[in-house]
Amino acid sequence: MEKKISMEKLVNHCKNMGIIFPGSEIYGGLANSWDYGPVGIELKNNVKKAWWTAFVQESEHSMGVDASILMNPRVWEASGHVASFADPLMDCRECKTRHRADKLIENHSKGGVNADAMSNEEMEGYIISHKFACPVCGKHNFTPIRQFNLMFQTNRGVTQEKTNIIYLRPETAQGEFVNFLNVQRSLRMKLPFGIGQIGKAFRNEITPGNFTFRTIEFEQMEHQLFCKEGQDQDFYDFYKGKSMEFLGGLGLPAEKLRFKDHEKLAHYAKAACDVEYQFNFGWGEINGVHNRTDFDLSRHQEFSGKNMEYTDPITNEKFIPYVVEASYGLDRIILALLDNAYEIETLEDGTEREVMRFKPEIAPFKVGVMPLIKKLHAEKAHEVYRILAKKFRVIFDETGSIGKRYRRQDAIGTHFCVTVDDETINNGTVTVRFRDSMAQEVVKLEDLKDFISKKLED
Ligand code: GAP
Repeated sequence: MEKKISMEKLVNHCKNMGIIFPGSEIYGGLANSWDYGPVGIELKNNVKKAWWTAFVQESEHSMGVDASILMNPRVWEASGHVASFADPLMDCRECKTRHRADKLIENHSKGGVNADAMSNEEMEGYIISHKFACPVCGKHNFTPIRQFNLMFQTNRGVTQEKTNIIYLRPETAQGEFVNFLNVQRSLRMKLPFGIGQIGKAFRNEITPGNFTFRTIEFEQMEHQLFCKEGQDQDFYDFYKGKSMEFLGGLGLPAEKLRFKDHEKLAHYAKAACDVEYQFNFGWGEINGVHNRTDFDLSRHQEFSGKNMEYTDPITNEKFIPYVVEASYGLDRIILALLDNAYEIETLEDGTEREVMRFKPEIAPFKVGVMPLIKKLHAEKAHEVYRILAKKFRVIFDETGSIGKRYRRQDAIGTHFCVTVDDETINNGTVTVRFRDSMAQEVVKLEDLKDFISKKLED
């Protein structure tokens, strides 16, 4: 039997098991910032690799880039972020706390009212007419809504003049748009083609984050597909379908995923949808697919003065391509995977075991190697570690009873435990224990690498 896991329990588990720690913890933390630990970073790297394989490597028509986080500030004027990348905020006049009006409405209506489709005036009217209380102090005294830009600013150079302001990028997408012609020309790409990128993005989020769901620094995996107008709808449908395929492939079950089409489209968008996962706090967006039309490249042409047109090699026709964007939040995918994988299982003997049932490809460690008795078997176990580590991410564990070590590996999702004992030294065999079934099998040391490879593929 499995137990439902609360977010608090998941956060504690992640901290205790080296998956995710609170950011700057010894200084009291920094709101909405988290650090990935030794287990979390492996999980993250595996998901990045899966995304890169699916969106860049396996697509004949896609290439990757790694653009700068700091960009010319004109980029953010062209993209519209300086003028309108803002949240509608209200202050409580009584306790001086700040709140996002749209989130107040969504939380109050338990997700029943979609504030996305409301103007600021409508949100204010709704909050007043429903006599919303401040979630912190319970009083009814909010300021009117003000727009608060989410971009972090910093200054380039030694003076803090306005002309020196630069921004930490709030999305990776612009690094792909500004390099459209560089990629197209340097690698002789023909439309339709895509550019993928994985990297950090920063947003000055003030609402509490539900663990890593909403953070001020996060990673995005974004793919922009450049095509001719008229092909955009087909690509939009394709990338919608690919979302479910990709997330399902990571191990997220279809019944916990759904599409949410945007009711209020950004002024440049022709169509947009989110893919939501059913977290323990409710449905939340983990990725989006957006038909951005020719807005991005047209705006960069206008603001940079550089011609962003593509010339069709057959017809010689010149035009600005359309863009279909597939944008994934890596940290939200990780959170969904943790939420989905974590189980507290009651065993037949009535004891409980914590287990993270990750799929083999994304499990942080594939194998745990452990000497049965440290004094007698550690040397041989280190040898086994070295053999396996050439092929898999392996963890060595020699502390505590073998039963406790098995449970510790279950709790971080390690697929197999390999125990080295007298039989290894005398007969050249090891015991392989499977995470999910807890069954054990004796395997010859010389066959171990192939045995594990095969089982991971099954
Ligand atoms: N280029 C388009 C773009 O950035 P977005 O919907 O603003 O679109 C894309 O962001 C994805 O980035 C989201 O689906 C989400 O997974 C992730 N994301 C956005 N803000 C985030 C935050 N504050 N913390 C963690 N992930 C975030």
